[in-house]
Amino acid sequence: MRSIERRIARAARVLVLGFCLSAATPASPLPKAAFLWGVSTSAYQVEGGYRSDGKGQSNWDVYTNDLQVTKAVIGRIETGNIADNLYDRQQYLQDIALMKRLGVNAYRFSIAWSRILPDGTGEVNAAGVAHYRQLIDDLLANGIEPVVTMYHWDMPEKLAEQGGWASEHSAAWFQRYAQVVFSAFGDRVKRFITVNEPFVELFMIEPSIHRILEGARDERADALRIYARQAVAAHHILLASAQAIHLYRELGLKGEIGISLNFTPTHPADPDRAEDIEAASMMDALQNRWFLDAMFKGSYPEPLASLESTLNPDFAPTSTELRFIVENRPDFVGVNYYAPSYFKGEPSAPLGAEWARANTRALEAFNGPVVPDELFGLLMRLHTDYGDPLIYITENGAGFGGEDEELVEGRVHDELRSLYVRQHVEAALKARAEGARLAGYFLWSLLDNFEWTTGFSHRLGIVRVDFETQDRVPKDSFFEYQTLIAAHRER
Ligand code: BGC
Repeated sequence: MRSIERRIARAARVLVLGFCLSAATPASPLPKAAFLWGVSTSAYQVEGGYRSDGKGQSNWDVYTNDLQVTKAVIGRIETGNIADNLYDRQQYLQDIALMKRLGVNAYRFSIAWSRILPDGTGEVNAAGVAHYRQLIDDLLANGIEPVVTMYHWDMPEKLAEQGGWASEHSAAWFQRYAQVVFSAFGDRVKRFITVNEPFVELFMIEPSIHRILEGARDERADALRIYARQAVAAHHILLASAQAIHLYRELGLKGEIGISLNFTPTHPADPDRAEDIEAASMMDALQNRWFLDAMFKGSYPEPLASLESTLNPDFAPTSTELRFIVENRPDFVGVNYYAPSYFKGEPSAPLGAEWARANTRALEAFNGPVVPDELFGLLMRLHTDYGDPLIYITENGAGFGGEDEELVEGRVHDELRSLYVRQHVEAALKARAEGARLAGYFLWSLLDNFEWTTGFSHRLGIVRVDFETQDRVPKDSFFEYQTLIAAHRER
């Protein structure tokens, strides 16, 4: 096994070197593009076809098909084996027709790494590549720009078994994958996203699964152990992303490459309590600044960085690595925003911060309190604190359950989601008017789909999906978004 890894690592280095030597000209600036109005999905959540045409298994195929895990994590037996059936061309053509009706000019989807490299590295699966080329061509033929996320949490199982992102070889694995992706799709895709929300994957989803599997013992100690381990994995993700960006530029591909990060503005539960203020600031460093500071400032935020190194001496980023990350920072920041979060200072809690219920009167969606102004504030913060980066909102959306999801006489009157969409689009456009370099907005999600640790019960789509029949019913929020796009299309 070791020698295979060494060969791959060597091959990846040779690849990078080869491209460096061929010194392709840097990408020329894109012509001024129209504002992107889009919808987002991710492979595992919508594709199904989990064993089709030579696809390898991903960690999520394994988690969900281990029925005990599904039952323990989701509470029911639910998998993404079929999901929205989007691996089926007849199905996705109907969904592209829905996108056209909606009026979007862009679609963000992710590639299942194990579909095109079944073992994660090694042999390419031509059928998997052909599938995505066909999808991309079908989108382009319909006037919809494909925006491709390379990694949205479904890691080839073979690599997960070797430690996933915690492995020191993970950046080399990703480099090999990036090379395949760019050579297969780089001629027709103009916007790539290296990875999606590493914070949520590493610090929230993965730990929640492992905590259930391993049985929670001392929650604080477990959380600190996980934070320390995941800081190393997160650093590997940043290196992997920077290497892919470097490769993209060396290849001279004419487009943009970015990263999608989740942002949850943090606040003290009691704004007058010093401990709460400190807790909110610690969580801001972890949730919002960790990746941004590394990419735009070349350092991890203190005092959290020192704490991570104390907890885990393996977390020891070198100045050469940090310089590489800054030099290969993304062309754009993909902002995934759902809700703010609130913290109480609590010495017995991990990092001294305990999640608190919102002390606002805001309505609660699945992903937290609804506060559209926070999106405005976040975009302005990126604008002022991080050198005015190019921004796409790559995810924003909501689910409320209950009446908002009821199918009544062929209609779904999802008033709460409709309002959420309107208010957040308005907040985003306000930030744009005040100077934020916002060039697109992608709603999460086009379709109800498989929601990681809650399965199919948490619906976030603007199109209702009957998971038995695969019937689609556009909800009221679909028409709300359609109206908003039509009103602002000229932007
Ligand atoms: C993820 C999506 C997820 C969405 C809604 C984001 O954190 O990128 O995959 O479905 O939130 O919870």
